[in-house]
Amino acid sequence: MVAPGLVLGLVLPLILWADRSAGIGFRFASYINNDMVLQKEPAGAVIWGFGTPGATVTVTLRQGQETIMKKVTSVKAHSDTWMVVLDPMKPGGPFEVMAQQTLEKINFTLRVHDVLFGDVWLCSGQSNMQMTVLQLSSDLSKKSSDDGFPQIRWHQTADFGYVPNPKMPNTFMAVAMDLCDRDSPFGSIHPRDKQTVAYRLHLGARALAYGEKNLTFEGPLPEKIELLAHKGLLNLTYYQQIQVQKKDNKIFEISCCSDHRCKWLPASMNTVSTQSLTLAIDSCHGTVVALRYAWTTWPCEYKQCPLYHPSSALPAPPFIAFITDQGPGHQSNVAK
Ligand SMILES: *[C@@H]1O[C@H](CO)[C@@H](O)[C@H](O)[C@H]1NC(C)=O
Ligand SMILES: *[C@@H]1O[C@H](CO)[C@@H](O)[C@H](O)[C@H]1NC(C)=O
Ligand SMILES: *[C@@H]1O[C@H](CO)[C@@H](O)[C@H](O)[C@H]1NC(C)=O
Repeated sequence: MVAPGLVLGLVLPLILWADRSAGIGFRFASYINNDMVLQKEPAGAVIWGFGTPGATVTVTLRQGQETIMKKVTSVKAHSDTWMVVLDPMKPGGPFEVMAQQTLEKINFTLRVHDVLFGDVWLCSGQSNMQMTVLQLSSDLSKKSSDDGFPQIRWHQTADFGYVPNPKMPNTFMAVAMDLCDRDSPFGSIHPRDKQTVAYRLHLGARALAYGEKNLTFEGPLPEKIELLAHKGLLNLTYYQQIQVQKKDNKIFEISCCSDHRCKWLPASMNTVSTQSLTLAIDSCHGTVVALRYAWTTWPCEYKQCPLYHPSSALPAPPFIAFITDQGPGHQSNVAK
């Protein structure tokens, strides 16, 4: 007589073996997951993954109970990969993408849900791009005199202070200098607030790539800097509205020169109107030759820089401008 336990012991491994051999290595490519966006028409979205060589793979796109399309392919021998190209889809969703591997009449199924069709953007960058969104939830800064970061920011715009510009057409960027996160477990130059960066970038995409008119996608820069020597003021006129979050006595600095020596001195914010502000320059007993804004690694606490555009909440970008003519009423053009 055979003990029931022994029979069970024989059958169970067989089922497990069959199941595993059907599903062995069968998976979507790493970036195919729930809540993803696939490229909309006119391109056909590519779905691919890994599987057992020789197996058949059926990819089904479903919406609710309805099957929208099916594509069949097989796993290639040398690379263990499979790939299908979906028919071009209009933007929208949500859909379910199902992939079924069939090998010797045994099926193995993978599913991802809440898939949308839209435009897929490839973003490039440095270590901040390698930091995953999962790491974020794991929970006109010392003020560094080192101007390495301000210099990098300035050169990122080809020294214009804004993009797009004549040297960098069809380019947009997000200013992130007000998103400091000195307690970030990934180091203080890896701020965890990526959502705000994404929000600011998406405004640039809408304005430049989709041509939405009249959409503000960059923070205020002065278009005119006027020296009012008799009043001891610089008058900055912005090309868009400004909102003063708080007055700051140090974030604007003037280069003050006398006896062939120049030094940076703070210029405190004086009067403010909807599109202009004045800076006190009476601390300079020589000649004011340049003005810079936010010229430190982290110029303010989180979202607490002094100047923003009112409705978009975009921060005024850092800039440096030279004031060449010292006569009263002189204008230095910084931005467009
Ligand atoms: C496996 O999938 C194929 C094709 O979708 C289907 O015809 C077959 O009935 C399935 N077999 C099993 C065991 O589910
Ligand atoms: C652009 O937007 C501003 C306010 O944001 C509005 O006053 C103006 O009328 C708009 N212009 C056009 C052409 O839509
Ligand atoms: C600064 O310039 C703006 C416009 O360019 C002007 O309206 C404002 O009165 C000026 N401010 C001072 C103090 O002169």
